Amino acid sequence: MDVLGHTIEAYSSTESSPISDALALAGAKLVLRYLRRIVENGNDLAAREQMMFASVMAGLAFNNAGLGYTHALGHQLGGFYGQFHGYYEAILLPRVFAFNAVALQEEKILRLAAAMGVNAGSKPEAVEKICDATRKLSADVGIPAGLKKMGVQQHDFATLAQNALKDIAGLTNPRQGTVEDVMNILHDAM
Ligand SMILES: [Fe+2]
Repeated sequence: MDVLGHTIEAYSSTESSPISDALALAGAKLVLRYLRRIVENGNDLAAREQMMFASVMAGLAFNNAGLGYTHALGHQLGGFYGQFHGYYEAILLPRVFAFNAVALQEEKILRLAAAMGVNAGSKPEAVEKICDATRKLSADVGIPAGLKKMGVQQHDFATLAQNALKDIAGLTNPRQGTVEDVMNILHDAM
């Protein structure tokens, strides 16, 4: 799920390019196709090989284009509560993508939807279905649906949000938010 986060964040980034986009889309496509298979059967080497390619492509994409608020926030949560980075990413990803969607072109969102195997004819439909596909994949691989189950405490929100806005990953987020915006994302992700 962290790999999917890397692809979607690099693709949404203010520094994305046709090169990082091609890598991000190819990576996202592989995650949707192969992650379930690996979780079902860890000995499925053909699927693991494809996930390895997905991971490297996602890494190349975000090392060039940067990341966004899913990581800016995920870094804080990992530091505060010490659970798996990928779990935080999985939970935050649809919330941050929905927040960012106003800053992304329809054509770009439709291409991401297609890469993720989602059929959509308009931007709002594509955003909703990309978020649904992310939540569904996350649930299928056994990740909790919300941050509450990960031990996240509401009284930490202000500190988490303030620190997240100082995280380097947030610099390339396509929509810059206030502390309140980031706290709302956390709320939504509980
Ligand atoms: Fe990550």
